[in-house]
Amino acid sequence: MIKPPDVRAASTPAAPIRTAIAPGPVTPDDRFFRHIVGSMRNGVLAIRRDGNVALMNEEAYRIFGLEQREDDLGRPLTDLLRDRPDVIRVLAGSFELSHLPNRAELRLKDLDRVIGYTLSKVRDDQDETIGAVMFFKDLTQVEQLEERERLRDRLASLGEMAAGIAHELKNPLAGIEVMAGLLRRQVPDSKDAQSLLADIINEAKLANAIVVEMLEFVRPIRLQVEHTNLSDVLHQAVTLAETKATRGDIVVTVELAPELPTIEGDVHQLCQVFTNLLTNAFEALEGRGAVAITASGGLMDAPFAQEPRAPIPTVVIEIVDNGPGVPVELTDKIFNPFFTTKPQGSGLGLAIVRKIVDAHDGRIDVSNNPGTGTRFRITLPTTSASGWFK
Ligand SMILES: Nc1ncnc2c1ncn2[C@@H]1O[C@H](COP(=O)(O)OP(=O)(O)OP(=O)(O)O)[C@@H](O)[C@H]1O
Ligand SMILES: [Mg+2]
Repeated sequence: MIKPPDVRAASTPAAPIRTAIAPGPVTPDDRFFRHIVGSMRNGVLAIRRDGNVALMNEEAYRIFGLEQREDDLGRPLTDLLRDRPDVIRVLAGSFELSHLPNRAELRLKDLDRVIGYTLSKVRDDQDETIGAVMFFKDLTQVEQLEERERLRDRLASLGEMAAGIAHELKNPLAGIEVMAGLLRRQVPDSKDAQSLLADIINEAKLANAIVVEMLEFVRPIRLQVEHTNLSDVLHQAVTLAETKATRGDIVVTVELAPELPTIEGDVHQLCQVFTNLLTNAFEALEGRGAVAITASGGLMDAPFAQEPRAPIPTVVIEIVDNGPGVPVELTDKIFNPFFTTKPQGSGLGLAIVRKIVDAHDGRIDVSNNPGTGTRFRITLPTTSASGWFK
């Protein structure tokens, strides 16, 4: 059996070893073990029986969002990870457990990260427990994929139902509109009847518009992909949003980074994305306030399954308003189809936005700042590789 490295005494290793590990006399075997831990794509964090940190690799620092410091090793876990009380609880608590979980998950709330971990006790040759170690992986991207998958399933079944209803409603609605029109011609002299029939026709038109929107939403998206200049799209969206909601005295600024790359996307669908977001912003501002539109180039992590994981060039577009913001308890719901807080809203605006962004392999985030406004951030890869996030 290969003996694990002795990490007790102090001396500096000859080769640069990036894993934070308690110093000790280094043999080639030791160094090899350390390189194994250092090169692991899992996070590794080990403590001794006294609760001091014995080892923490680079991936662990990255996942926990910590800067590596020379004197980290030997420090109490409660000190090094004081901002991660959940991790301390899990790792320190493992000494008390006779059965350790094979695989469990932990949400690092402030970092908005989810890790999947396993725990092991470290035993010496006499089978005494001398430490505990946590192996973990950043599952955030997997979680996001699952979330998208769940949403897609939900939308698919909801969509089928909605498409059925919408289809059934379309004909009777058209019938009402036509018949009311005929009736109008038969009572040209009755002012009351004329005004009532005009109302009926308008209401039927409104209902029909909702049905059309609903059908549009449930129809699978087919993208007409072309090199798209986002500057044109954004300016067009401002004009279109003005026809859908009252702009009033709202100040709109558009600030685009110089040499913004074009993206491979569907001009009309992308225009709809920004029109819907701007319409919402105008509606939230009720005629007064400011909307800032910015776009700049960026990079996003390659999809989880893709190797090598070279970052992907993106364009990041932000639409920020200084309206009332979205109440915290509603942020999870606003993308759901038919969720609306407006008397005349159909609640499909953001659901359509998400669907189109998804079809472009992009991402959308909302930062919720009640009192200071709402920020929607859309990240679109410049070249779409359909299937990345599907
Ligand atoms: N910029 C914003 N500021 C505040 N709340 C917002 C903003 N954008 C969206 N919301 C909230 O999200 C909800 C859902 O928006 P969504 O665009 O999907 O539907 P809607 O605007 O209500 O109806 P419609 O189908 O006509 O767009 C809104 O009703 C509103 O409560
Ligand atoms: Mg809307």
